[in-house]
Amino acid sequence: MQIDPAQHSTADGYKLLTNLVVPRPIAWVSSQSPDGVINLAPFSFFNAVSSHPLYIMVSVARNEAGEAKDTARNIEASGEFVVNMVTEELFDAMNLSAADFPPDQSELELAHLHTAPSLRINTPRIAEAQASLECKLFSTQPLGTYTLFIGEVLMFHVADRLVGPRLHINDFAPLGRLGSPSVYCRTTDRFDIARISYAQWLKDNAPGA
Ligand SMILES: Cc1cc2nc3c(=O)[nH]c(=O)nc-3n(C[C@H](O)[C@H](O)[C@H](O)COP(=O)(O)O)c2cc1C
Repeated sequence: MQIDPAQHSTADGYKLLTNLVVPRPIAWVSSQSPDGVINLAPFSFFNAVSSHPLYIMVSVARNEAGEAKDTARNIEASGEFVVNMVTEELFDAMNLSAADFPPDQSELELAHLHTAPSLRINTPRIAEAQASLECKLFSTQPLGTYTLFIGEVLMFHVADRLVGPRLHINDFAPLGRLGSPSVYCRTTDRFDIARISYAQWLKDNAPGA
């Protein structure tokens, strides 16, 4: 079946995109308003986009009233944000933080979370998160009804128990977002298969091999 998005509604396009491009990691973004209110909200239009420099991207839509979300306003005003990763024990708090609280209400207090200081930026991270990435805004790209924020990672915070020799990360299992609006997955069902080189492939596929 072919589905031409031009023949369908915006809502259908959203449904198709968010149910087919899966799983998506979740950036649980802490940001700070000019008044010092710490805001927290999840975003699954999120990914790593470069390792040198270390760039990640988060795409934030306008809200139903067509206004910028608190996260977008705060990132634009402060030029920084923290991506906190969401593991299963934090699911309820993450879900609560997605509610449309007014800008002067900090989602952190309502979700019984705590802040911990960042080292390179002023915006705090979430103390309960197993991993957090301090980001400085690198660029902003308007994308229709969304704004794409690219941030440079200036500092990684990772729970000690997750970090093995040579910075190997063990047993880190953040949740993923599947279909919209509320389907998620665990990342605990894993397999590890080494990549093969062309030379290895030639050897394996040589006549008589
Ligand atoms: C798991 C999850 C992922 C989400 N992903 C996005 C996203 O990528 N972009 C977006 O604009 N909103 C996304 N939302 C909705 C925002 O979290 C929601 O609009 C939130 O209220 C925004 O908060 P703020 O106004 O404090 O920034 C997502 C919600 C959930 C629960």
